[in-house]
Amino acid sequence: MQKIIAANWKMYKTRQEARETAAAVAAALNEQPTPHEVVVFAPFTAIAEVADAFAASQAQAGAQDVWPAVEGAFTGEISPRMLQDAGAVWVLTGHSERRHVLGESDELVGRKTAFALEQGLKVMLCIGEKLEERESGQLEDVLRRQLDSGLPAGGGALEGRFAVAYEPVWAIGTGKVAGPDEVLATHAVVRRLLCERLGETGNRIPILYGGSVKPANAGKLIGLDNVDGLLIGGASLDAQSFVQIIRA
Ligand code: 13P
Repeated sequence: MQKIIAANWKMYKTRQEARETAAAVAAALNEQPTPHEVVVFAPFTAIAEVADAFAASQAQAGAQDVWPAVEGAFTGEISPRMLQDAGAVWVLTGHSERRHVLGESDELVGRKTAFALEQGLKVMLCIGEKLEERESGQLEDVLRRQLDSGLPAGGGALEGRFAVAYEPVWAIGTGKVAGPDEVLATHAVVRRLLCERLGETGNRIPILYGGSVKPANAGKLIGLDNVDGLLIGGASLDAQSFVQIIRA
């Protein structure tokens, strides 16, 4: 399965900063292409800049969120068509900051995921447990609940346009990367849950790891079983550092 190396820029970068970083990533990839799929999830205002900078490269632009409606009176929200018009190919749903800082429910994440797929976007559904959930033995229950509510019905059509990003909440932006044993074990659980839900297709859905990925640990993480990609926050803001991770 082709690996996916994805940057989540969160709420960082003006349009000019985004353009410069994306241009540097595109130049590096044009000089030395990678076998991996490369995606940058940019803030809404910078998606078009990133998509333009990536136009003649193998990388693609994505959005960090979407609203599940074609259009309408949804002040402050953005539709799949608007994202596609800006050049987004991918969208993230259920990022931990949306769930735990912005209060998004499993149910809403599920509606966003299903609608974005239906409208032709590729979707990366983020799941992950909090530290207290892991420590109290609820890891599998939490992942199962997030996958059950997040996965759209009719799994057959998901191949090639859907990925899961496992990001333990306690490892995001904390510098505490989950250890290789934890990542290996948890990705095996996610794979089993995907197969329970989707049958054989579950084996062909990429599972990315996210949480304090850096150039120094990326090589080890990407080599683990069932780690089909990486989702990088802080270390993706700098083009050099992101490219180092792509090459790791
Ligand atoms: P960090 O790489 O900064 O820990 O962020 C991870 C993340 O949330 C990516 O979506």
